[in-house]
Amino acid sequence: MDEAALRHRVEAIRWYHQIDLRPGLRTPGLDDPRERLRMLHLPEDLSGREVLDVGPWDGFFSFEAERRGARRVVAADSFAWSGANWSTKEGFLLAREALGSRVEDADVDVMDLSPASVGEFDLVLMLGVSRDSTAYRLARAAKRLARRERVWQGRLAVHAFK
Ligand SMILES: C[S@@+](CC[C@H](N)C(=O)[O-])C[C@H]1O[C@@H](n2cnc3c(N)ncnc32)[C@H](O)[C@@H]1O
Repeated sequence: MDEAALRHRVEAIRWYHQIDLRPGLRTPGLDDPRERLRMLHLPEDLSGREVLDVGPWDGFFSFEAERRGARRVVAADSFAWSGANWSTKEGFLLAREALGSRVEDADVDVMDLSPASVGEFDLVLMLGVSRDSTAYRLARAAKRLARRERVWQGRLAVHAFK
């Protein structure tokens, strides 16, 4: 995709995340997740790992996991992608295309995720997904998907708004 066409498509989208798509081309999102990424202390090397990002919105953390070498990344969202709310799935789809990413998308509510439907993962990210008391319930649902293994503990990184 040429730069002018990409810029044109970027401008047509309401972005949540600021994502670097090309040198000098950052999506104009509300949220710059870089400081939160630093606080997460994700392993630099995710080679061979499978990662589930629950509630990725535009997918900043999904693409970051892929960049760090994850073998498989699944981005699972529902609320923000449905088009019935503040934004749509267009940002995620355009970022994936522009980055040449292989991150998989699943249109599903976290409560409907199960090991039977999506499998288990080495790392489950559920960042900023809920502002209220459902956060704990959602976290328990996501935790069911974190694989236990001896070499690298399955882990769940949860961030909820206060
Ligand atoms: C504030 S955004 C956080 C985006 C990203 N994880 C981050 O930390 O920057 C909240 C996201 O959680 C998603 N979400 C909320 N409830 C959800 C649910 N029940 N199942 C899946 N995703 C959900 C929203 O659609 C949205 O994409």
